[in-house]
Amino acid sequence: KKSYFIIVSLLTMIMLTGCLNLSGEEGVSELRIAHNQTLDHPVHLSLVEFSRLVEENSNGNIKVKIFPNAQLGSEREVLELTQSGAVDIAKVSASALEGFEPDYSIFSLPYLFEDYEQFEQAMNNETITDHLYFKTEDIGIIGLTYYNAGVRNLYTKDREVTTVEDMKGLKVRVQPSQTSVGMINALGGLPTAMAYGEVYTALQAGVIDAAENNETALVGNNHGEVAKYYMYTGHQIVPDMLIMNANRFNNFSEEEKLIVQEAAKASTVYHEDVWAETIERQTDIAKNDMGVQFIEVDKQSFIDAVQPMHKKYAEAEKTKDIYHLIKENIGND
Ligand code: GCU
Repeated sequence: KKSYFIIVSLLTMIMLTGCLNLSGEEGVSELRIAHNQTLDHPVHLSLVEFSRLVEENSNGNIKVKIFPNAQLGSEREVLELTQSGAVDIAKVSASALEGFEPDYSIFSLPYLFEDYEQFEQAMNNETITDHLYFKTEDIGIIGLTYYNAGVRNLYTKDREVTTVEDMKGLKVRVQPSQTSVGMINALGGLPTAMAYGEVYTALQAGVIDAAENNETALVGNNHGEVAKYYMYTGHQIVPDMLIMNANRFNNFSEEEKLIVQEAAKASTVYHEDVWAETIERQTDIAKNDMGVQFIEVDKQSFIDAVQPMHKKYAEAEKTKDIYHLIKENIGND
């Protein structure tokens, strides 16, 4: 109740600031960005770079304010705020978008990409991205760019998992995405969907035995304090998406649109280096300071277990077009 009240007050405040344009300068507009990561996470650093480019290239006419740490709510909540225009831009996982646009479910399909190169190939292919970024315009949002959010691996509190057999009965947190729920079911585990911000406590309290994410979850979000086994299952490569309220974007002049889109693209390139450096550094910290064990698994047993999902997504009315569009463009259909 209390946190709901705080969020509502905060939103009223930022909506008012937006309307009154507290920058006080004629012709200056402000973009409010929400995301759920910490200040030292690559996403935040890349959004700072995005802001710098937008402000500089618009000669200070567009200012940017970032609200990190899920201050404005979970990814689902900020997606709704972006739709309504209370927030202008948000960084959310493609998995969170699944409930808004079925095409995004494809990114949670396990082993859609064989490796990171295929993922890059898809995300830098304009046939795919133009399709995705404007598909959601009728529900009030457009895509600006994506950020590499690494490879998702399984981590447990106290159980080593080396083959898919070990997944039996394991309570695993997944993102609020039907496809991710389906993935854990297909692997023999027991899925629990919840917002990212609740995972640490759920692991600690034993409500779940496991979660799955890239390495930044262990260190940046401290999950390595409670989860000591990190298994290289490599089951998903889900991009983070930078999305914007469609009206706000369409009301910009052509020049302003370009400034925002180009800054977004440049921040994606910037993000690659920060990402690589962060994963290397945080993996070291997890191993050496937190005592997390990094374990190789029999990946093929996981891949085999989810093949019925591939067949289903390749044939289902809702997903077949995007499935084949991606597969064809990565030369893998
Ligand atoms: C990744 C992703 C986040 C998402 C999180 C999750 O960290 O970048 O956007 O919220 O996974 O598992 O919920």
